Amino acid sequence: MCAALCYRMGPGGIGNGMSAIGAVTAAARALLRLLAVALLAITLLAISVPAVAAPALAPHLGVASCGGTTCHGRQEATGPRVRQNELLVWQDPTSLRGAHYRAWSLLKLPRAQAIGRRIGIADVSASAECVNCHGDPAPVRGPQWRQADGVGCEACHGGAGRWLASHAAVGASHADNVSKGMWDMAQPSARANLCLDCHFGSAKPGQFVSHRAMAAGHPRLSFELDLFTALQSHHDEDGDYAARKGVAGGIKVWLVGQALAVQRALTLLPARTAGPFPEFTLFDCRSCHRTFSDDPAVPLVARRNDWRPIAPGQPVWNDENLLVLIAAAQVVAPGEAKQLQAQSRGFHLAMASDRAAAAKAAAALAASAGRLAARFERARFDRATNFALLDAVLAGSAGAWTDYQGGAQAVMAADTLLAALVNAGAVDRGAAAALRPDLDRAYAAAKDANRWQPEAQRAALASIATKVRALR
Ligand code: HEC
Ligand code: HEC
Ligand code: HEC
Ligand code: HEC
Repeated sequence: MCAALCYRMGPGGIGNGMSAIGAVTAAARALLRLLAVALLAITLLAISVPAVAAPALAPHLGVASCGGTTCHGRQEATGPRVRQNELLVWQDPTSLRGAHYRAWSLLKLPRAQAIGRRIGIADVSASAECVNCHGDPAPVRGPQWRQADGVGCEACHGGAGRWLASHAAVGASHADNVSKGMWDMAQPSARANLCLDCHFGSAKPGQFVSHRAMAAGHPRLSFELDLFTALQSHHDEDGDYAARKGVAGGIKVWLVGQALAVQRALTLLPARTAGPFPEFTLFDCRSCHRTFSDDPAVPLVARRNDWRPIAPGQPVWNDENLLVLIAAAQVVAPGEAKQLQAQSRGFHLAMASDRAAAAKAAAALAASAGRLAARFERARFDRATNFALLDAVLAGSAGAWTDYQGGAQAVMAADTLLAALVNAGAVDRGAAAALRPDLDRAYAAAKDANRWQPEAQRAALASIATKVRALR
């Protein structure tokens, strides 16, 4: 049980091991990631599919309508185009791949019910405050739709009411499907915005985990788009996939994910400021939850961070994604990086002084992040850029990772950037395996937020950066 603070990061061994499925070890998760890398053998230039607005009220038909044995319910991945065993993977009881299937049933567990009791929800498995993230928040439901399906296929692929019959026909193109309301999950920004709804929060009903809910026992939400995509993946980005949809590649998915996470947090700020304080979950948890002592011999815990010009004693805006974004922009968009950094500093300062100025600064910063997301989505990331990004985040920005949440985001970035280099053939699998111990050490240092070891983590990340530099 969670005795005091319940922080939890999802994959890669970061967290406090509170998973409902028991401990998935760091090694197992690392292996999972490596396997995912091996499967993503081909990186091609993205072919862009025109974004078509999905019909808002396409009926959701339920997982049973997807999982027939001749459809996505095969025992083995033997489909000619898509694997067709997606149902089994989505239900996998042994790994994080099955997390979305389990998402609703875990609301029946004592731990989930206890959260409800503490915040006055009689049945969490029936409350929109919980099921809109732990299930499919389908606006219109067909007869086979079931709450117990958890986060079902249509929660991510869109209501199938208008495309179920046509999408598997010979000659049905991705663009046809999207025009009938299938969501374009191959497009990084569409995917990011969807995942963030549940893995960060949204302005839609029931999709926000408040600090009240976290103080009642809900784990902290932590997310990195590319890593989490790999951890739940049930598809192959092979030649056939590339021809149909284009392959965005890990770097692009990661960067668009960072930029849109920054934008999401900042745009939620105004609506999440009721009463005297803004919503606490938008801040870095550890900036409030620290231990301290009146004994002058006990050193202070907070570390000076030049990226963030704020005085001691102020809650820190959770800038884990912002710091990554600035570091990455310095490589791929140096002009914008300067502006972003200036806006970020202005925002931190305004948060300490003036609510109206803070709202204005947040809006400007959110707009910059949105522009960067669009720019990244169009960009091509070559070998040299990949290497430079890894170096910028792990070594060049080492001084940015003074806090747990940023540190954890840096470890996930290391994992994602290494995977992308392997995937693009820029680092061979043997060399990548040799980096594994460093990455495992970095994950281990961030495993327990209450025992975060910034120095050990920084050393492990620096070691990765040095070794990768030799491979350039
Ligand atoms: C904004 C979306 C969102 C809302 C709203 C939400 N959750 Fe969650 N919940 C998540 C996500 C995402 C995770 C996984 C967090 C992680 O480990 O990274 C999670 C994890 C959990 C866990 C831990 C599961 C495990 O595997 O250990 C419990 C228990 C839980 N939620 C219960 C609730 C209850 C009860 C409510 C309603 C009061 C609720 N959640 C509302 C998104 C949400
Ligand atoms: C948490 C979100 C999520 C859920 C739930 C989900 N998927 Fe996916 N699925 C994705 C993402 C992301 C991709 C990769 C991007 C893409 O091509 O759409 C994908 C890819 C696929 C593909 C491969 C598409 C191709 O063109 O090769 C199929 C088929 C698929 N999913 C079917 C399913 C089925 C069936 C279910 C339910 C049993 C399901 N998905 C549940 C997110 C999800
Ligand atoms: C409708 C809400 C919803 C959407 C949309 C959603 N997720 Fe989740 N996801 C959850 C919940 C709730 C959990 C926690 C379930 C559990 O612990 O079993 C979760 C768990 C996960 C996990 C397991 C790791 C962890 O922290 O527990 C991964 C990986 C994941 N999601 C990836 C994604 C990705 C990638 C996308 C976008 C393609 C996505 N999810 C979209 C609700 C959602
Ligand atoms: C602005 C300061 C602040 C921030 C930021 C903050 N908290 Fe809190 N937290 C508090 C206060 C105040 C309490 C109530 C303390 C009490 O009741 O003794 C609290 C209580 C809690 C508790 C209950 C602890 C207990 O043992 O009863 C948890 C869990 C928690 N917070 C988690 C988080 C998480 C996770 C985050 C980040 C997403 C976070 N907090 C961010 C101030 C903060």
